[in-house]
Amino acid sequence: MPINVHQNGKLFHLTNQKLSYLIQILEDGTLGNLYFGKKVSDREDFYHLIENEYRPNTAYVNKGEVDFSREHLRQEYPVYGTTDYRHPAVSVLQENGSRIVSLKFVEYHIYQGKKKLEGLPATYTESEEEATTIDFILFDELINLELVLSYTVFEEHSAISRSVQILNKGVEKLHLEKVMSLSLDLPDCEYEMLQLSGSWGRERFPEFRKLVSGVQSIESTRGSSSHYQNPFLALKRLDCTEHTGEVLGFSFVYSGNFLAQVEVDTYDVSRVTMGINPFQFDWLLKSGETFQSPEVVMVYSDEGLNGMSQTYHKLYRERLARGAWRDKERPVLINNWEATGMDFTEEKLLEFAETAANDGVELFVLDDGWFGGRRHERAGLGDWVANKELLPNGITGLAQKINELGLLFGLWFEPEMVNEDSELFRSHPDWIIKVPDRQASHGRHQYVLDFSRAEVVDHIYQMVAKILREADISYVKWDMNRCITEPYSIALPPERQGEVFHRYMLGVYDIYERLTTEFPDILFEFCASGGGRFDPGMLYYSPQGWTSDDTDAVERMKIQYGTSMVYPLSMMGAHVSAVPNEQSYRNVCLKTRGNVALFGSFGYELDLNTLSEEERIVIRRQVEFVKDQRKVIQEGTFYRLLNPFETNYCAWMVVSKDKNTVIVGYYKILNEVNAPFKRLYLKGLEPEQQYQRIDNAHLYYGDELMNIGLITSDTSCGQIIDGRVPSHDFDSQLIVFKAK
Ligand code: DGJ
Repeated sequence: MPINVHQNGKLFHLTNQKLSYLIQILEDGTLGNLYFGKKVSDREDFYHLIENEYRPNTAYVNKGEVDFSREHLRQEYPVYGTTDYRHPAVSVLQENGSRIVSLKFVEYHIYQGKKKLEGLPATYTESEEEATTIDFILFDELINLELVLSYTVFEEHSAISRSVQILNKGVEKLHLEKVMSLSLDLPDCEYEMLQLSGSWGRERFPEFRKLVSGVQSIESTRGSSSHYQNPFLALKRLDCTEHTGEVLGFSFVYSGNFLAQVEVDTYDVSRVTMGINPFQFDWLLKSGETFQSPEVVMVYSDEGLNGMSQTYHKLYRERLARGAWRDKERPVLINNWEATGMDFTEEKLLEFAETAANDGVELFVLDDGWFGGRRHERAGLGDWVANKELLPNGITGLAQKINELGLLFGLWFEPEMVNEDSELFRSHPDWIIKVPDRQASHGRHQYVLDFSRAEVVDHIYQMVAKILREADISYVKWDMNRCITEPYSIALPPERQGEVFHRYMLGVYDIYERLTTEFPDILFEFCASGGGRFDPGMLYYSPQGWTSDDTDAVERMKIQYGTSMVYPLSMMGAHVSAVPNEQSYRNVCLKTRGNVALFGSFGYELDLNTLSEEERIVIRRQVEFVKDQRKVIQEGTFYRLLNPFETNYCAWMVVSKDKNTVIVGYYKILNEVNAPFKRLYLKGLEPEQQYQRIDNAHLYYGDELMNIGLITSDTSCGQIIDGRVPSHDFDSQLIVFKAK
């Protein structure tokens, strides 16, 4: 039983093969946390873990007693102001101006499987045996406020998900000022915090910092999860490496504003909180209303960062991503954006596509510029109707011609945005997010549509759906190219303006849900100026996303390495683009560009007609390789081997589910003269299995490759010998082994 209940319903041990999580009902009826970590033996009583000691300068709960202070207790869902001075999990403003609440345990319910979170993305189960859920009901008697804390323990994953529902069963109007999805008090602070930070073009670079006393946090205030911080943090023990040691991961299944924080108190207790960012958040909860928080997925690993990542990869790939494309091999695509921008004609597109079809590409994607008056960035967004001057037979006609070339057809949209110069804006100037009588700031000359309003979402839904109904479209790229400013909705009363950001996200999730339901066979790819909304929430609707607008292979090593901390390869759109690269102006050889991109959902972002015949041969080989191996790459176990942030090298590998195929990518950033000999230590192989290297037929045992290593030394002796071409900057090796 993954949830053991002891002491007549006072102690709860959530456990599976890997982890344990202990919750105790404390003497005052609140919930305490006793442990989260490696699986421990079950027992009747863990009460000795509660340290109720007298401490100076402390406020105590019970009159006449000096041993019960919430300040010193490790709590499960803490409130502020009743002896605990740390940041709480929840803050509720009441009609009398007070924010003091008292949440006492009432009852619990255990059931198999997992409930759906209404209107929100979340992990799920396909059969009830896959997980067990416990709901704790907490209640504030004075204001009749009920909280339901839900915990799901997955049978096969070292993971627990958590979310919170709040119900106003009283008569007051309450303002929820803060509702964190997770709060967890850990007994010490001997951790390094890992965050994935960056910017446009360099998303999700891992950063580590040792926890210190006080608050350390990351957040988004931009209306999307953002390029800048990803809704994830991990706490790793100081001796934890990529492959060994303990780490706790916390990942927020949400795409809007978030806060992820660790507060280390004066006694070194680390309080982790994660949820919707309370900054600019204020949700009015009237009598009878309910608020549902998004969920956090917590992972425990004692196999280092790789162990944590592999748990997220599998769980997210199999039980967060959904739909027909979840398990299907993804088509090799070609996108015209970097090749043509908005400067194309139908004829040019067909030439572009025909060559791609000849080289084995399977899906042609028409990016920005095909609709309304969109010939540049200043016009057209919002008018989702084909520009007949460019495409005389509309999208339907173009899709048909593309299909005749033997390619699937895909199309770009940016449904959440509008340009001032558009029919949509001219008819509905009041549909944008802005404060009345104040200036609205623009980003890329565009405004954000008020997706907190159902009529706006409906209108856009109808426009997009019309095109998808009429044409044979197999793929949609859903872009979002600016952050929200001046958050305000004219459809909401003043007391509800703090709801705009979250209601906007609910509107986005709603349109995604409706489109993916009406068009279940379309492969959706999310995008936000590259990876500006690359998060678990998006994965629930689209099984893949555009990882970054930076397509330079060397930069991509870092971006893909960092992204893989949480997200599976199947989710990472990765394309080979032209050189010199549009973002870095770097010249990386075609081989390496391919060798990096194929560790993702593979595609091209260049005009193949501009390549030489030799290069086209390389392209055809790459496409063939991807078609042969994409199942392994999509579903296999991924290992990071060499860190491009710390070394001149990057290496990673994938081992197929049955462990019979192994694909290694090994990359050198700058060439070294007369370089030392190098070995790569592989991971995850069957020790006694013989593996044959495909390019030279050498045989190795698994344990040999893992312990003695694979020799990777190249020809960088610093001199040209017998006309042999020495290695060069940005060189790479792609090595495949098959079990013999
Ligand atoms: C930003 C995306 O990341 C690009 O791939 C491209 O689709 C452009 N937008 C088009 O405007």
